[in-house]
Amino acid sequence: MRTSLSDEFGLDLSLFAFSYMPDVVAAVCKAGGMGVLGAVRFTPSELKEALDYIEGEIGGRPYGVDIVMPAKTEAVAGMEVGEMHAMLQKMIPQEHRDFVERVLDQYGVPKLPADAETGRDLLSWNDTEARQQVEISLERPDVKLIVNALGPPPKDVVDQAHAAGVKVAALVGRKDHALKQLANGVDIIVAQGTEAGGHSGDVATMVLVPEVVDAVGDHPVLAAGGIGSGRQVAAALSLGAQGVWTGSMWLNTAECGQPDIMYKKFAKATSSDAVRSRAYTGKPARQLRTAWTEAWDDPDNPAPLGMPLQYMLNAEAQDRIRRSGNEELMGTPIGQLVGSFTEVRTVAEVIALMKDEYQRTVTALPRLAPSTDTVRPGDRS
Ligand SMILES: Cc1cc2nc3c(=O)[nH]c(=O)nc-3n(C[C@H](O)[C@H](O)[C@H](O)COP(=O)(O)O)c2cc1C
Repeated sequence: MRTSLSDEFGLDLSLFAFSYMPDVVAAVCKAGGMGVLGAVRFTPSELKEALDYIEGEIGGRPYGVDIVMPAKTEAVAGMEVGEMHAMLQKMIPQEHRDFVERVLDQYGVPKLPADAETGRDLLSWNDTEARQQVEISLERPDVKLIVNALGPPPKDVVDQAHAAGVKVAALVGRKDHALKQLANGVDIIVAQGTEAGGHSGDVATMVLVPEVVDAVGDHPVLAAGGIGSGRQVAAALSLGAQGVWTGSMWLNTAECGQPDIMYKKFAKATSSDAVRSRAYTGKPARQLRTAWTEAWDDPDNPAPLGMPLQYMLNAEAQDRIRRSGNEELMGTPIGQLVGSFTEVRTVAEVIALMKDEYQRTVTALPRLAPSTDTVRPGDRS
């Protein structure tokens, strides 16, 4: 599972792993891949803490940070976070707030206790905090990759990373998006098919990866969406990718620290239970089908708001759902891969299985190559 890209980063495996859990990131790095921390849930000071933790675990190995830099930031560029938050809160219609309460009531989800610590409702997918996260990440000598989701990162941010000797990767769901990323100076394209967990487009990995590989010339491409086994890695490399970018598979590991209910729901889910819905963030994102997604996707109910308002509307509800352990409502972004989840394993175990299956797959592949003595007259290839 080595390619010229993994060699460039000094990795044993061309396996790139997105996770918002520092423990998963560290375990992937220790197993020879590149863990990339999803930073959007962290405040700047929480991010520093998480990076300290990872570095304490991985002893100088390279790792990455994934930052969500929204493309259209003119309206709020440079705005102070508190001011931005207040402005956005006022934009949420009462009808939507009432609907959230009705759904929670229907499933008997209690209010939060008065002293409960609540999660953030405006994540770091705003220009101000995303830029702070870039600065924090670039101060770390072992951060070798910055990854951006949701559109091309601003050109000055790419330049800033390059000046620090750090490569920039970006997620795309379409060939034309890949070309826009390259125009902004991005080094590595993550071609993410619709199977993927989280925000996704509508083109499948099998179609998207070769399309993007052919379009981007010498730039390396990582294949993403529906990759979680050695056979899938072999397929991705056969499509011309230089490595794989993975997300969902780590949700079913011990290090991810999911509530037991979630692991049980994963075990029961089929691939068709990972639905693309605007329920979570306002943009189409693949996630586990729940009573919550069904409620938002019902055309008789209020339509989900745009991003970031939908997540702001949702955040406290999600805290309440998790806290109450409500099985019908509890979900997560996840890809179609969930249908193949079996038992919960450690990251190291999962990677060992993947490597083993990859090895067996590529060892068997030469049997498919036509050899001169088996070619019959009339065979054309
Ligand atoms: C729970 C979850 C959260 C995600 N959040 C982000 C994110 O914040 N930024 C990002 O670039 N990608 C995010 N993604 C997408 C992953 O980076 C990755 O592209 C995707 O998981 C790959 O497809 P797979 O889920 O089939 O492995 C998320 C994926 C999941 C499953």
